[in-house]
Amino acid sequence: MKKAAVIGFPIAQSKSPLIHGHWLQVHGIEGSYEKIEVTPENFERDIRGLIDTGYAGCNVTVPHKEAARDISDELTNRARIIGAVNTLVFADGKIKGDNTDCEGFLENLKAGVLSWVTKKPALVLGAGGAARGIVYALLDAGVSEVRIANRTHARAEKLAEEFEKAEAVMWNDAEDHLGDLGLLVNTTALGMTGQDPLQISLETLSPDCVVTDIVYNPLETDLLKSAKSKGCKTVDGLGMLLHQAVPGFEAWFGTRPKVTPELRAKIEATL
Ligand code: ATR
Repeated sequence: MKKAAVIGFPIAQSKSPLIHGHWLQVHGIEGSYEKIEVTPENFERDIRGLIDTGYAGCNVTVPHKEAARDISDELTNRARIIGAVNTLVFADGKIKGDNTDCEGFLENLKAGVLSWVTKKPALVLGAGGAARGIVYALLDAGVSEVRIANRTHARAEKLAEEFEKAEAVMWNDAEDHLGDLGLLVNTTALGMTGQDPLQISLETLSPDCVVTDIVYNPLETDLLKSAKSKGCKTVDGLGMLLHQAVPGFEAWFGTRPKVTPELRAKIEATL
């Protein structure tokens, strides 16, 4: 029986066991996928423990994504550039680290909006771990210019410095950079249930601009609501969570699974 898991701290809220459990069932695979709470002090010991007990690999979430990069014997190109790992594959006693968040983000966008890649600039709100993957994904997909606005401006500058076609703009001036956008992305937790609201006026946004949010609880954030009311196409964040799981499942269980409306409905029902 093939075994995989998701490792995090805390981990109770993780939807990954439901996603992978659904695919195991659909494909009739004898396998398991559980959630395991691991503290930062025990991260390396527990990962080695998974290898010793025959696990095929695991997903890694907050706060272990950098530790997962550091423990990897091999990194995919995208994981190396992004500097964070969310998917580990164990083979021949070696650890291979990948970052599938960027693929999840792009696949979600493609699934939601057909003609989203434009020659227009994109604006990314936030400069944390999630933003890194998304800036990489957008530039890799051919977006001509990525602007980054972050409350702590130095972080936006640092991230922008790493990518030739990225530039930092002031958080408080973000609204001045909306007029010519093809894509607006919120990568912060603002707007999530229990967090502060994201305060941004979309008055100057063109109805041609696609707006997406990595927050999926609520599914329709205030940002997406006001974008919709402007006539913009919107893509919610749940699809990113579903799509980022695909490469891990394929690597551990040997079948490339599909993100279907049935899977989406199943996860949506638990939000
Ligand atoms: P993640 O991996 O989810 O991106 P992170 O690395 O902690 O998590 O990044 C969180 C992002 O949300 C950051 O861009 C953060 O801004 P700062 O760099 O200024 O901290 C942003 N963020 C969190 N709370 C915020 C708030 N109240 N207002 C504005 N931005 C906020």
